[in-house]
Amino acid sequence: MIDWSRFPGSLDWATHLPLLMACVGVTTGPVLEVGAGRCSTPVLHAVCRAQRRRLVTVERDPWCFDHLHRHYADQGHEFHRGYECLPELAGQAWAVVFSDESPGSRRAETVRLFLDVADFIVIHDIQSPEIFPPIAPLIADCWSRRDADYPVETLAVSKRCSLIS
Ligand SMILES: C[S@@+](CC[C@H](N)C(=O)[O-])C[C@H]1O[C@@H](n2cnc3c(N)ncnc32)[C@H](O)[C@@H]1O
Repeated sequence: MIDWSRFPGSLDWATHLPLLMACVGVTTGPVLEVGAGRCSTPVLHAVCRAQRRRLVTVERDPWCFDHLHRHYADQGHEFHRGYECLPELAGQAWAVVFSDESPGSRRAETVRLFLDVADFIVIHDIQSPEIFPPIAPLIADCWSRRDADYPVETLAVSKRCSLIS
């Protein structure tokens, strides 16, 4: 059993879930989570497990990795520690790549790596001046939807797909 009190913050940070789940819901393939935690990891684990979809979680922080890996790793849910694995994972096709890793400035590199191989990339905290400006030129020709219904905003982008409004 995970001791969630060891993860500071609350489910208030889960503002990525509506757009993330919309992208997961219109696809069927594997899902990559970059940056784990109490909001996204349990939900992605449950949905991907129920739908028999491959889920890969990449987490850099050793404590966070150990706790979530111990509880959630199974045949359908792989964990990788550190970002060094990302270039190799970008050699595979993904339905959804969720970018919520620290530091936020890293997320532009995740978008750059996966834009050609993912149906959708979902990026959290996109209102942050540290996060969006380096991503903007990478997605100039892409379909995108920004969920600004919450103070912490989320962006979904795709080179080849869209969500029907
Ligand atoms: C924005 S958090 C990722 C949150 C995760 N995607 C979620 O929705 O639960 C970015 C990084 O902070 C660390 N982290 C995870 N949960 C945390 C928490 N509750 N408080 C502080 N840092 C956390 C992890 O190293 C994680 O990769």
